[in-house]
Amino acid sequence: MLADLKEVLVKARSEKIAIAAFNVPNLEMVRAAISAAEQLNLPVILQHAEGHDSLIPLEEIGPIMLQYAKQSKVPVVVHLDHGKSFAAIVRAMKLGFTSVMIDASDLPFEENIARTKEIVKIAHSLGVSVEAELGHVFTSSLGGGEGRVPDDNEIGNIDIYTDPAQAKQFVAATGVDCLAIAFGTVHGIYLNEPKLDLNRVEEVYKEVGIPLVMHGGSGVSAADYQRAIDKGIAKINYYTYANKAGGAKTKDFLTEASQEYFLEDCVIAATEAVKADYLDAMQAFSRNKKNL
Ligand code: 13P
Repeated sequence: MLADLKEVLVKARSEKIAIAAFNVPNLEMVRAAISAAEQLNLPVILQHAEGHDSLIPLEEIGPIMLQYAKQSKVPVVVHLDHGKSFAAIVRAMKLGFTSVMIDASDLPFEENIARTKEIVKIAHSLGVSVEAELGHVFTSSLGGGEGRVPDDNEIGNIDIYTDPAQAKQFVAATGVDCLAIAFGTVHGIYLNEPKLDLNRVEEVYKEVGIPLVMHGGSGVSAADYQRAIDKGIAKINYYTYANKAGGAKTKDFLTEASQEYFLEDCVIAATEAVKADYLDAMQAFSRNKKNL
């Protein structure tokens, strides 16, 4: 069933688990995500990043995401990820998405507040939840569809991590339902093992008291997921490594196949690999859940 982001995340916090938020820019990933969530009987977030409009436009994948959400046995949030433009955010709400992200994290603090506040006012009047970002989660130079690759002088600079006092001011001023924070994760492929500032998560959570969001979630160790969840993370955005698992499986499949090659067989093999990756991720995010 179609679910509300705020409700799902508040419940996740009370259970000390995080909800997987999978970017699904094709039908196969939608089906793999729903199938994994139903197998584990867990809520899931299907999300479309505005930056993935180049893979498939919001108006094409959005109705598919909503249809699968509505017919699912588990709660499914349909969310716009990294909404940069006002138009994309409004279009997602018009389609029936139950939550949107306004990403103005590259703008100065006061402008980020102003743009986020404007979206919260519209979204909340329609019963739509809002995620915003403070601090900036960069993109690895090996790709990832969201955020941007840092300049040389920004690499390793922890000043771009979310400041707890600013976060308190930001949440009070905007009324957002959850907050994406920067604490060492990056979108895309990790070039080195991620070193997360988990104290930062705890400090921010203490100040804001609303569910926090980890971006660049795929490629992080199971132990770090658990530590981050213990400190306030309730939504984990996950894309690149599932996408990579599907690609790797297709390559193996084509190497192994001895006779004719059919697209439908590649699609089935890739979907199974993505689902297996999703199952591992969801289990790692829900270790505190009984009877999983
Ligand atoms: P990854 O692609 O690094 O898993 O990040 C996904 C994400 O943060 C989407 O917003």
